[in-house]
Amino acid sequence: MPTRPYVIDEMISAKAIAARIEDLCREIQKEYDGTDKLVVVGLLRGSFVFIADLVRELDLPIEVDFLEASSYGDVMESSREVRILKDLRGAIEGRDVLVVEDIVDTGHTLNHVTHLLESRHPARLKSIALLDKPSRREVDFKASWTGFEIPDEFVVGYGIDYAQRNRNLPYIGKVRFLEG
Ligand code: IMP
Repeated sequence: MPTRPYVIDEMISAKAIAARIEDLCREIQKEYDGTDKLVVVGLLRGSFVFIADLVRELDLPIEVDFLEASSYGDVMESSREVRILKDLRGAIEGRDVLVVEDIVDTGHTLNHVTHLLESRHPARLKSIALLDKPSRREVDFKASWTGFEIPDEFVVGYGIDYAQRNRNLPYIGKVRFLEG
């Protein structure tokens, strides 16, 4: 449960997200043209809306798998220690793997996950994040594709939560706490 009263100000509209996904998918399509061994891996839970829209824009023979990494710490601070709570169902050795994340913040989560998946010897390992907050980075990590760079604001919607709420908003909104 969120602890303090807040409102949500729209930051990126559903329409802008859809248009950006179309552009990204044109680039991804080019990268994987001719391959029939692509596995698209969604990081639970925040990427579930993004991956659903992304794969439906891709005209490629793909498989979909999911992985869940833990987030310790309080509800607004990302964890520096990453644990795998749910691993992939399938083997990825020799496969092309595209990891799909909601936000790259400190960078610890995607950094850890990509190292883990590299150790399983995929043919190619790339990543895509809908949002990137470069000013918050603590480890040197850059996703292969990024939807939008945003300032250091706490955001919700389009799969992203605040204390497990607001994942079902169709747009990305900024959390603004009310005084008092
Ligand atoms: P990182 O390991 O610090 O890069 O954190 C990535 C994870 O932190 C994301 O997948 C989100 O779960 C969470 N996170 C980072 N920023 C936000 C935010 O603004 N709103 C909600 N969750 C966030």
